[in-house]
Amino acid sequence: MKKFTNISDLKDLNTAVDEAIALKKNPRAHVTLGEGKTVGLLFFNKSLRTRLSTQKAANNLGMHVMVMNFGDEAWNLEYEDGTIMETIRSEHVKEAAKVMSQYCDIICIRAFAGLENKEEDQAEPVLTNFIKYATVPIVNLESATGHPLQALADAITIKEQNTKKRPKVVLSWAPHPKALPHAVANSFIEMMRYQDADFCITNPKGYDLDPEITKGIDIYHDQEEALKDADFVYVKNWCSFEDYGKVNISTREWMMTKEKLGDAKFMHCLPIRRNIVAEDAVLDCDQSLVIEQANNRTYSAQYVLKTLLEN
Ligand code: CP
Repeated sequence: MKKFTNISDLKDLNTAVDEAIALKKNPRAHVTLGEGKTVGLLFFNKSLRTRLSTQKAANNLGMHVMVMNFGDEAWNLEYEDGTIMETIRSEHVKEAAKVMSQYCDIICIRAFAGLENKEEDQAEPVLTNFIKYATVPIVNLESATGHPLQALADAITIKEQNTKKRPKVVLSWAPHPKALPHAVANSFIEMMRYQDADFCITNPKGYDLDPEITKGIDIYHDQEEALKDADFVYVKNWCSFEDYGKVNISTREWMMTKEKLGDAKFMHCLPIRRNIVAEDAVLDCDQSLVIEQANNRTYSAQYVLKTLLEN
């Protein structure tokens, strides 16, 4: 593995999950592997879990960690080729990526979708330019279109909690006061393609995700029908793909309730808005896996960093 920007970069998802579970049992087993190595964490957007769990993962491998918040600490980067740089963008990614590659052995980047221009978001200017110009491996800490470290943590959580040969897993849209990107849902879907599971998506009409990503997967616009006999329910908001970046409905009807959840396990990547995305009774019950999903972010990141160091 030379980079980790999508689930498909893993050689084998099942092996990754098993090795991550082994790391969870003995987190300091490879504490000398990262000795003398530095990981740089570049944040263009806010974070709690990703920032702390990736630092913890790197520490477990003996790595040194450098963190930079681009919002207020670094020069604004330019990504276009041939631009006359007379705006507030005072440094080109060509230099920035090469310079940072001298300081870091691995560079991890969080850069969300702007949700104003679909084509620009789909092109992933930050991630693709760092991959192009950096001379060290790049890790995606959530980009415009994907959050693979979250999806790997979710795969670990499902493996740990599953009791069935072929569980039913439902990705269920939820209301949210803000327009949110598609990254978590996209990577969860990508990850579920490797699972032996009965998987479907449910969302209101007008909120179908990118058809390239959902190709061949059943999409229900009737949430009740989709949730029938579910073993795992992954709840997430996303804005419209068709009417890109918009939230055109304010209905609470799609909020996850204890009654709708039935006997299924509840999953969400966090942060979550209580009593909008899911009611308190869901988050506070034993069926909620959200805290364990966040715990597994450490071992998902540790597996990825360890694999990149070994390569
Ligand atoms: N789930 C997740 O990525 O959390 P943060 O945005 O807090 O990093």
